Amino acid sequence: MADTFTQRYALVTGANKGIGLEICRQLASKGIVVILASRDEKRGLEARERLLKESRSISDGDVVFHQLDVVDPASVVVVADFIKTKFGRLDILVNNAGVGGVEIEGDISVFQEYAEANLNIIAAKGAQAHPFHPKTNGKMIETLKDAKECIETNYYGTKRVTEALIPLLQKSDSPTIVNVSSALSTLLLQPNEWAKGVFSSEDSSLNEEKVEEVLHEFHKDFIDGKLQQNNWPPNFAAYKVSKEAVNAYTRIIARKYPSFCINSVCPGFVRTDICYSLGQLSEAEGAEAPVKLALLPRGGPSGSFFFREEALSLY
Ligand SMILES: NC(=O)c1ccc[n+]([C@@H]2O[C@H](COP(=O)([O-])OP(=O)(O)OC[C@H]3O[C@@H](n4cnc5c(N)ncnc54)[C@H](OP(=O)(O)O)[C@@H]3O)[C@@H](O)[C@H]2O)c1
Repeated sequence: MADTFTQRYALVTGANKGIGLEICRQLASKGIVVILASRDEKRGLEARERLLKESRSISDGDVVFHQLDVVDPASVVVVADFIKTKFGRLDILVNNAGVGGVEIEGDISVFQEYAEANLNIIAAKGAQAHPFHPKTNGKMIETLKDAKECIETNYYGTKRVTEALIPLLQKSDSPTIVNVSSALSTLLLQPNEWAKGVFSSEDSSLNEEKVEEVLHEFHKDFIDGKLQQNNWPPNFAAYKVSKEAVNAYTRIIARKYPSFCINSVCPGFVRTDICYSLGQLSEAEGAEAPVKLALLPRGGPSGSFFFREEALSLY
């Protein structure tokens, strides 16, 4: 391990499985001391044990577990205190914890059909010949409870953890934040023109209040049964809105902290629990782009949203 001055420290949220666990593995293999954070202590400790057992290049002190539920403000304060006391600073924050905001009834391959239909719209630059109807005998359901959890975790969780850790990141000579977003946040998939206008704003008029006004209106329309009437996305609605908000927040804080590298990234379509293990990439492949952004040199790009391949081809 390097000395305290050259050693770098990273926190990865939602790291007990999936892409988060792989991000921990790849960062630790590159000599970074990683705080593997999980909302559930047992799952987190077991994940750490697994990592140490499977990866010969990672030793005991390279990965530290800490409990962190990103929707629980008290647990965010505790993890920030822990890092301050144990390491004195933080160099890399990976906001990876996330939920999908949907449930599947019946054949789960309907999830893949919807995901691919969205990716086809992106590939066709927004052109959508006809409304999409899945062929499989499954149903994708989006409840108000799921939508609230999705926005609370994906957007407010990211913001809560970031705000708590910025003072520790400011002590680093290469402070870096990676927000794990999704291709589904592409604004081509957002039919609500007002939301699209807010989220696409590149100038200083974009702020957290405006982002949260969109989230508030979406929530209100969900409660009032006006999602269709007000042109919110016809599928993955809360997930898309939450990750669009994450991308906008990324630009806002990148502007506010010009000495930081702060970016968001779609890891690709990865076989993890969030997508019923139906993706195209392994967890290790999904971790590659977030890890590349986590290790950007000082002065690297900031305030951008990367698709996997774009992030991988940086430098
Ligand atoms: N897989 C894909 O194709 C794909 C594509 C685009 C973007 N992403 C994004 O990649 C990130 C990682 O997802 P994944 O694919 O690795 O899915 P995953 O295997 O389901 O992992 C999600 C992780 O987030 C954690 N989490 C959820 N709510 C949390 C909370 N309140 N506090 C702390 N941790 C919480 C989960 O913990 P529990 O185990 O306790 O539930 C789990 O560790 C997410 O942000 C997701 O949106 C994934």
